Order: sequence, then structure tokens, then C-alpha cells
Amino acid sequence: MSIELSPRLKVIAACVVGASTMADIGTDHGYLPVALVEKKIVSKAIACDINEKPLAKAKKFIADNNFDNSIETRLGSGLSVLKSGEAEAIVIAGMGGFLIQELLEAEAVIARSAKKLILQPMNNQSVVRRYLETHGYKITREDLAREGHRIYEIIVAEPGTMVISNPLDYDLGFKATETKHPLLKEHINRKIFLEEKICNNIMGKTTIDAKKQFKDSQAMIQQLNEVKECL
Ligand SMILES: C[S@@+](CC[C@H](N)C(=O)[O-])C[C@H]1O[C@@H](n2cnc3c(N)ncnc32)[C@H](O)[C@@H]1O
Repeated sequence: MSIELSPRLKVIAACVVGASTMADIGTDHGYLPVALVEKKIVSKAIACDINEKPLAKAKKFIADNNFDNSIETRLGSGLSVLKSGEAEAIVIAGMGGFLIQELLEAEAVIARSAKKLILQPMNNQSVVRRYLETHGYKITREDLAREGHRIYEIIVAEPGTMVISNPLDYDLGFKATETKHPLLKEHINRKIFLEEKICNNIMGKTTIDAKKQFKDSQAMIQQLNEVKECL
């Protein structure tokens, strides 16, 4: 059976190319490792999840596709289930930015033993970029994928150094304007929409925090509009 991945997982799979082994942290359904092994992008994969139910789902999907010999399943939190150097590529996708940061920090040695990290935070993407910058990583690729009305950000990093000089790059993506991704305009519009939603929610609130948030969001909207005008 040939597995058809969703646009988001397709982009993530493309980012794995070049690694011969991979670990999928928070695998859930197990689609990604199965597709990667089936397409011979990797020869070995480790599908990991903290919860038994999703891991059982992944196990069944792996067995149904006859990949029990090349895909191992492991139960546990984050990268703690891996040994150092075991996976050339580590994928953490579909989780919040703060959780991704927490998982990388909890097993920093194992994280650094991978040739590359492929991260797809569902929110707080700036937290992930900031963590990478301050913990000895460089972002080597940024990609976007659309599913329905949602745009997903995919970040690929490897050990190294980088300096993000434009503060907007933490939110928008490292050098996103330079690569002129076909989804960049939509990505910016979505960010503007979300910031406007924040402004509408706090409009009229008089606490110091609310006022600061309003000001920050307004500034962000202005910067995003400026980038959009240059595209
Ligand atoms: C929304 S799903 C994402 C599934 C898949 N990675 C994807 O992108 O389609 C999140 C999965 O992460 C798992 N998860 C949550 N916290 C985790 C942790 N600390 N370690 C490993 N897996 C975790 C959940 O059980 C769930 O299966």
C-alpha cells in the first residue's frame, strides 16, 4: 500500500531526506515513519509516543504495512526513549512550541546527537527559534505547508550557530522574506489575522499587561504589513 501523506507531513518527510535513520517523537498514527520507510527515505525509524493509545495505533499501522522489522515503537516522553546518535533525524511535529522547547532541553545531549532536527510547532514558533539560536543550533531550512485555512511552519535545524538579527524573524520565520515562499503572503495574512484577534479580545481592558499586549500586537501588525508590501 502506498501511503499518501497530508501536505504538512509531506513537507516534513521531504526535510528528512538525507538521514538514514529517524525518530518520530509524538508519532500518534505512525504515518510519517511508515511513509519514510516505504519510500526508502530511511532504512530504520523509531516511532515514539508518551501515550499508549496512539502508540498502539501506530503499532497496528506499522504491522498492517509489514514494517515491524524496520520501525520500532517506544513508549515514553520526548527524546528520553532514544539513545545518543540513534536517529540521524529527529522529528517533533504537531506539538506546541513550549513543549518542543521543553523536550529538547530535557534531553539536550540526545537532541544534539542528531544530524538534524525537524520541528513543526503548532504555536509559539518564536519560542522554538529563540531556543535554537541560544542553544547552539542553526536553522538550515524553513518551509510552510497549507492544510485547509491553516499554514504550518516547519523548521529544520542542525548543531551550529546563528544570529537572528531581525526580531520579526522569530515570528515569521528565519529569512522567510528572502526565500519568498509561495505561501509567505498567506502566512503573513494569517499572522495579521491572529494578532488582530488578540487586539479585539483585549480592546478596552485597562491592565498594564493588556495595554502592553495591545501595543505589541499593533506593532507586529504594522511590521507584517510592511513585509507584505515588499513582496
Ligand atoms: C497532535 S499529535 C501529532 C502527531 C504527529 N506527530 C503529527 O504531526 O501528525 C501529538 C502526539 O504527541 C504525543 N505527545 C504529547 N506529549 C508527548 C511527549 N512529551 N512525548 C512524546 N509524545 C508526546 C501525543 O500523545 C500525540 O500522539
